[in-house]
Amino acid sequence: MPLVVLVVLFAGGATAVALLLPWLPTAAALQASEIDPVFWMVIGISIFVFAIVEAVIVHSVFAFRAPPDDDSDGPPVHGHAALEIIWTVIPTALVIAIGIYSAIVVARLGQLPKHHLTVDVTAQQYAWTFKYPGAGGITSGELRLPLGEATLLRMTSLDVIHAFFVPQFRQNEDVVPGLTSTLIVTPTRLGTYPVICNELCGLGHSVMRSEAVVMRPAAFAAWEKSQSKAISSSSPSVAGAAVFKNNGCSACHTLTAAGATGKVGPDLDKLSTWAAEAKQPLVPFVRTSIVDPNAYIQPGFPKNVMPQTFASLPKQQLDALVQYLISSSKKG
Ligand code: CUA
Repeated sequence: MPLVVLVVLFAGGATAVALLLPWLPTAAALQASEIDPVFWMVIGISIFVFAIVEAVIVHSVFAFRAPPDDDSDGPPVHGHAALEIIWTVIPTALVIAIGIYSAIVVARLGQLPKHHLTVDVTAQQYAWTFKYPGAGGITSGELRLPLGEATLLRMTSLDVIHAFFVPQFRQNEDVVPGLTSTLIVTPTRLGTYPVICNELCGLGHSVMRSEAVVMRPAAFAAWEKSQSKAISSSSPSVAGAAVFKNNGCSACHTLTAAGATGKVGPDLDKLSTWAAEAKQPLVPFVRTSIVDPNAYIQPGFPKNVMPQTFASLPKQQLDALVQYLISSSKKG
């Protein structure tokens, strides 16, 4: 088969695979419109190189095959200066082009509009916490964002290296202890998208997930208001439920009252049974298990999986959480 036909066949096949399968998830952020063209440029270049290389290989296999009983050495070939220059110069130019275009896009992604929302993101084994410094420091276990508003994520880790990734927002950024890394996200589509930890960070890496919820600005403002009200509520059941939800407890624990069905850690519906097994009074047992989880490990569960960082919860929130857990588990 002539070389040109092979090139066309390989290019057509690879293009079909690239275009007919849905590789990229729905774009939900302004930044996707900058990043996706880089993807497609690299895909296009890859198809171009792939088609030529594969066509030459397949063509050579047939065109230069030795007859079955030909044991002679091949002809001595010195090389081909023109060909070597071509296959050095063209790929070099392509790689430089990708580099320049990427650098321009990365610079554009770092531009922060003056009017923006700031969210402090904390990663820890194995949960995400989102804090809203502009709204009285409310915290949330899921990332709530207003539609159309640029949001600066200031991210840090309390233990090991994690990575923040929402496929629909396209950008991935490492979250490193001792550093504050930033990411700017401008949501353009209402909906709920997965927040994924994209860096192998330990036993619970695969469950280190949360959600990004893009809301209408009015709904977002109402949510902020209701959150700051709930946390400062004098009713422990209201405040405790908010603290439980906001700190991502349901990712790992079951608690019927909160609709939580996590299976990574002990079932919180049975707290009084666990306290009795540990031969400890219920209230200090629950409190210690939150602030110093390694003090007593429930048989059958590994050490160091529960984050050891909840000792930093404000006392009022911790009290509310303990009371909430105890009263909810009695009902469960
Ligand atoms: Cu955190 Cu993987």
